[in-house]
Amino acid sequence: MKRLIDKLYDSNNLSSDELLLLLNNMDEESKKYLHMKANETRLHIYNDKVYMRGLIEFTNYCKNNCRYCGIRRDNKNASRYRLSKEEILDCCKEGYRLGYRTYVLQGGEDAYYTDDKIVDIVSSIKASFEDVAVTLSIGEKSYESYKKYFDAGADRYLLRHETNSRELYDSLHPDMSYDNRIKCLHDLKDIGYQIGAGFMIGLPNQTNEDFVRDLTFLKKLQPHMVGIGPFIPQSDTPLADEKAGTVEKTCILLSFIRLLLPEVLLPATTALGSINNKGREQGLKAGANVVMPNLSPTSVRDKYALYDGKICTGDEAAQCRNCIENRIKMAGYEVDMSRGDHISLQNK
Ligand code: SAM
Ligand code: FES
Repeated sequence: MKRLIDKLYDSNNLSSDELLLLLNNMDEESKKYLHMKANETRLHIYNDKVYMRGLIEFTNYCKNNCRYCGIRRDNKNASRYRLSKEEILDCCKEGYRLGYRTYVLQGGEDAYYTDDKIVDIVSSIKASFEDVAVTLSIGEKSYESYKKYFDAGADRYLLRHETNSRELYDSLHPDMSYDNRIKCLHDLKDIGYQIGAGFMIGLPNQTNEDFVRDLTFLKKLQPHMVGIGPFIPQSDTPLADEKAGTVEKTCILLSFIRLLLPEVLLPATTALGSINNKGREQGLKAGANVVMPNLSPTSVRDKYALYDGKICTGDEAAQCRNCIENRIKMAGYEVDMSRGDHISLQNK
């Protein structure tokens, strides 16, 4: 296995068969070696910096019905909320005061926010705060809509592909199209966004073969960012009784992604921190280099309940900022509050 890890480290590539062989044979020693090589790669490209993004979860209304997701349309127990433009700008203002220079606006697919509203929100943020990056994560839209947001100043777009196995995708996403999701990612890239794809780990019936498809898909797509995290059951969804993904498997896949895409921006996600108190720190040591603390108002935090046991739902933005900074330092890394663009776009 060490020989295969060296090959992955040296060439940033492996065949599907080799990836599968590695994934199927990860003993303790191989895991340690894999994480070490991934960390080395990240230090070489991004030093010990961890980029901070302020996350604003601005609506939990959603027209979709993803079977794993706590804010799915059919969850009648979800207490729905929307933030106004003014409330979103207030979150950015507090974020700016705390040093954040990237805001991630995330929400369900909520038709209340028309293209005009999104354009207004994005352009107001860009006009109010100098030198900040705006990331959108609001699901599948038309090429024209994506273009409008981009022209208004949006810099980046996160749209996890969720899984690159069509059958698994279809079983989890009623009334949605795998082909359209992939088309959206290509549209976003064509328009000029820094794009983020990604997937969940530990979904019911997910296999190592599925992960190999995710990894080869990402290698081909060459996204600027990859968001991966464990699936965690939410009690009001059809997958309530399923098992959650593990820190161990998530960290293995983080390392694979760091080695396949050395320059990628790779978050240690809130979901990873939610299944284990030291999950995000372990993610950083496995090759992750981004964290996304929450800037949403505390009054709505617990309503964006994608999964059970989500951390940081009671903390003010300033508390989250301090908590994560201490954790990053204790893990041996440095906080970086700059825009944190992909390395190919820095100093341009
Ligand atoms: N609506 C947007 C979209 O579809 O991209 C963004 C919001 S969506 C809630 C953000 C991400 O949350 C999804 O891409 C999914 O991977 C993740 N997610 C949803 N439910 C989850 C769960 N039960 N466990 C872990 N992650 C989950
Ligand atoms: Fe739409 Fe989860 S079902 S965000």
